[in-house]
Amino acid sequence: MAATTRLRCLLFPFLVQLLLLLSAAAGTRWQDFLRLPSEGDGAAGTRWAILIAGSNGYYNYRHQADVCHAYQIMKKGGLKDENIVVFMYDDIAGSPDNPRPGVIINHPAGGDVYAGVPKDYTGEDVTVGNFLAALVGNRSAVTGGSGKVVTSGPDDHVFVFYSDHGGPGVLGMPSDDYLYAKDLVRALKQKRAAGGFKSLVFYLEACESGSIFEGLLPKDIGVYATTAANAEESSWGTYCPGDNPGPPPEFDTCLGDLYSVAWMEDR
Ligand SMILES: *[C@@H]1O[C@H](CO)[C@@H](O)[C@H](O)[C@H]1NC(C)=O
Repeated sequence: MAATTRLRCLLFPFLVQLLLLLSAAAGTRWQDFLRLPSEGDGAAGTRWAILIAGSNGYYNYRHQADVCHAYQIMKKGGLKDENIVVFMYDDIAGSPDNPRPGVIINHPAGGDVYAGVPKDYTGEDVTVGNFLAALVGNRSAVTGGSGKVVTSGPDDHVFVFYSDHGGPGVLGMPSDDYLYAKDLVRALKQKRAAGGFKSLVFYLEACESGSIFEGLLPKDIGVYATTAANAEESSWGTYCPGDNPGPPPEFDTCLGDLYSVAWMEDR
């Protein structure tokens, strides 16, 4: 899905100000998630997060930058590393194209968001099978990686963030088959039925991302999903060369995605 999807996802950044406003308006939900009482407050529930960038390649810098930034927000919000599962190809910080070796930024004036990010599933371990196994909490279904999975229970709260390219009913993976909407929604239903969460909040950045949940996600399973686009439109990169503000001049790639940075900068 590389070239055309990517180009479409970069076009017309100014037309999506409306989208930005809409997503910011709906974006109180991640703050609510971080305010939920958790075991540290003597409450029964634990907060978990699963964060995934489904692309690779330096020209897709923005997806892994989004995910690293989301990790920093979850960590600052009090989640423990043992409760945060990160999927990223991890070819950005060390890329020969990266003008700041060992560093990833998600804003033109932003600091490093890469430091400390757990490398649970990287490279060829970023797969549909591992993602769904980690989501439902089935350790024996995982191959490679750290083996960390979301073993949440009925009092727990789960946050999911996915940043990538997409298309109608599909989300990308860096070097694996697509993740299909029906398989993702089936996993969410399965996890709910197994007592895997009290609430689950899903933030999804991808073109046509509305198609992943519209008409598929049941309203009564405690899942709140928000997407960057409806079922038919693109989502957009931001802080791209030519944008105002754009990335520092030494970067010839986008630093973030519009919907993702909208929620993450909405403090
Ligand atoms: C977990 O994964 C294993 C291996 O794929 C499978 O045999 C088992 O049925 C799964 N367990 C559940 C509860 O889905």
